[in-house]
Amino acid sequence: MEKMLKIDSQTAMDLENQYGAHNYAPIKVVVSEAKGVFVWDPEGKRYYDFLSAYSAVNQGHCHPRIINALIEQAKKVTLTSRAFYNNKLGEYEKYITEYFGYEKVLPMNTGVEGGETAIKLARRWGYDVKGIPKNEAKIIFVEGNFHGRTLAAVSGSTDPSSYEGFGPYVPGFLKIPYNDLKALEESLKADPYIAGFMFEPIQGEAGVVVPDDGYLKGVRDLCTQYNVLMMADEVQTGLCRTGRMLACDWENVKPDILILGKALSGGTIPVSAVLSSDEIILTIQPGEHGSTYGGNPLACAVAMEALQVLKDENMSENANRLGEILKAELKKIESPMIELIRGKGLFIAMVINEKHGYTAYDICYEFMSRGLLAKPTHGNIVRFAPPLVITEEQIRECVDIIKDTFKSLPKKV
Ligand SMILES: Cc1ncc(COP(=O)(O)O)c(C=O)c1O
Repeated sequence: MEKMLKIDSQTAMDLENQYGAHNYAPIKVVVSEAKGVFVWDPEGKRYYDFLSAYSAVNQGHCHPRIINALIEQAKKVTLTSRAFYNNKLGEYEKYITEYFGYEKVLPMNTGVEGGETAIKLARRWGYDVKGIPKNEAKIIFVEGNFHGRTLAAVSGSTDPSSYEGFGPYVPGFLKIPYNDLKALEESLKADPYIAGFMFEPIQGEAGVVVPDDGYLKGVRDLCTQYNVLMMADEVQTGLCRTGRMLACDWENVKPDILILGKALSGGTIPVSAVLSSDEIILTIQPGEHGSTYGGNPLACAVAMEALQVLKDENMSENANRLGEILKAELKKIESPMIELIRGKGLFIAMVINEKHGYTAYDICYEFMSRGLLAKPTHGNIVRFAPPLVITEEQIRECVDIIKDTFKSLPKKV
């Protein structure tokens, strides 16, 4: 292996294409370095990152404090497995439970594992506490959700590209429309064996779909009324992205089960967490759930620093303030290609009217050529989610790039 070989962009893409599974269709740009809000390709071109690795680098790429915590812990001990105690896990568990106001945490690695853990917890709570007969527990999901790619997650999905061809599916999952309290109440009323309601407080992959004001509070009230667990997947919306620490904070509601991931490690290693109460988390006994890497000391050290950085650098305030500016500026752009701008904090979607001859993909390539990276989601939607360390000056520069793109696109239709 020629270790020092400098791989140019084309070679890097060719290698991925030849030797890797084709389960993604990346934008044709290769990132070889990153810092804060910027990424660079091997040829030295700089781009604004307006995706933030799907909101995993909220704290900015290679945040010095998070990288330092990673390196310092890596020199000591990185993994013990849960066969033994380690000296970081308890400290982290105390820190994160106090940070979010929960009694217990169950540490995992990826976001989807967090969701999977939440589903298992809800079922077990349903049997042990609520008294649902064996194997009868149900979980309600909403249309348009995205909880990841395991069989449980795709079984709860309504997106054919997620579930088609992967059956048979996990039973006991009901699906109702999103942002529809009436549908939720009807389902809860009709079936006493429902253990949990799992949803994203703002749907990310669906294209930053923001529910009506009052929806989160309505969900909280209905779940309480029908003794069903409110399970909030904040893997993408949590950790300051929407201008609050959690998207649920917009309506001051506390889910029974909170799932976090992505930015919990500031984009360094996979770290996820499921936060809940003693009553729920202690239904799972030793040997009934876990993960070799879950709660590893490296993850614990990194997650504590990543969370502390969010607070120390006022990232939710920054996301809130700059998100308002970005949204207002984007709304001012006069182009028939822009159908709608929506979002909260620095979690904003631009819906493209593709009738004018440009797809959302085309538009993203135009942004890319001007030094800004974004990725379409759900066909005709472009999501704007820069790292939360972005400054007002940088936001305004990016607005100029976006404005210039629409101004200079030759008219097609
Ligand atoms: C809301 C939500 N849940 C879960 C996941 C899955 O996380 P991971 O890719 O780390 O498994 C994602 C990923 O985009 C997500 O947006």
